[in-house]
Amino acid sequence: MTVLSLKNISKTYKQAGNEVHALKNTSLEVEAGELVAIIGPSGSGKSTLLSIAGALLQPSTGTVEINGQNIAALSEKQLAKFRLNELGFILQTSNLIPYLNVLDQLLLVKKMGGSVTKADRQFGIQLLSELGLDAKIKKMPHELSGGERQRVAIARAFMNNSKVILADEPTASLDSKRAVEVVELLAKEAKQRGKAAIMVTHDERMLPLCDHVYRMEDGNLVQQS
Ligand SMILES: Nc1ncnc2c1ncn2[C@@H]1O[C@H](COP(=O)(O)OP(=O)(O)O)[C@@H](O)[C@H]1O
Ligand SMILES: [Mg+2]
Repeated sequence: MTVLSLKNISKTYKQAGNEVHALKNTSLEVEAGELVAIIGPSGSGKSTLLSIAGALLQPSTGTVEINGQNIAALSEKQLAKFRLNELGFILQTSNLIPYLNVLDQLLLVKKMGGSVTKADRQFGIQLLSELGLDAKIKKMPHELSGGERQRVAIARAFMNNSKVILADEPTASLDSKRAVEVVELLAKEAKQRGKAAIMVTHDERMLPLCDHVYRMEDGNLVQQS
C-alpha cells in the first residue's frame, strides 16, 4: 500500500533576487513498511524534499498525498493537526526537551494532541523497550549518550502512531557503530509497524539497511536500488 506519494514536485526559492530551482520534477512513492534512503551532495534538494513530504513547505508545483489525502486541500489549522497526528519527524540532533525525562518526552506528543491515557503510557514504555531503553525511562536527556538520545527521538516519532516517518540525517551526530544500531532499529520499527519511512543520509554504510535508495542530483531524484 502506498502511504506517501509525491508527484511531479518542483520547488523554486527566491534567493537575493535569483531563483533557485531546488527540486525540478521529482516523484517518489513509499509503501507501508519501507525505509527509503535519499543520498546526495549538500545543496542538492534533500531537505527541501523532506520538508515538502512533511507538509512543512508548499511545493511550487506537484502534489503530495499522505494516506490518500492531498495535503494541498488542508487549511493551515488542519495542516498543524495533520502534522501532529499523521507524521513523525526525526532530526539531525534529537531536540529533546532538557527538563523532561525520557518517557515524558514521548507523552508530550500525546499531551499536545489533547490528553495522555494509561494506554499511551503503556505504548510509550513498550516503544522505549523495543528501542533498548528500558533502563532509561526516568532519565533526563543530559544523562543519555548521543545514540540513546537519537533512539528516544525515534520512539517519540513513533508515539503518535502516524504512518509516515521522516528523518533528516538522523545519524549525523553519531559514531558509525551507534549510527548502524539506530538505523537498524528504525528499519525494524518501520517494518513491524507498517510505516513509510524516508531517511536522508550522507552515510553510505546505512544503505544496505534500506529497502530502496535514491540519489538526489541537482534537484532530480534518481533511483539506485
Ligand atoms: N529557505 C530557503 N530559501 C532559499 N533557498 C533555499 C532555502 N532552503 C534551501 N534553499 C536552497 O535550495 C537548494 C537545496 O537545499 P536543501 O534542500 O537544503 O539541500 P540539501 O538538504 O540536499 O543540502 C540549495 O541551493 C539551497 O541553498
Ligand atoms: Mg539538508
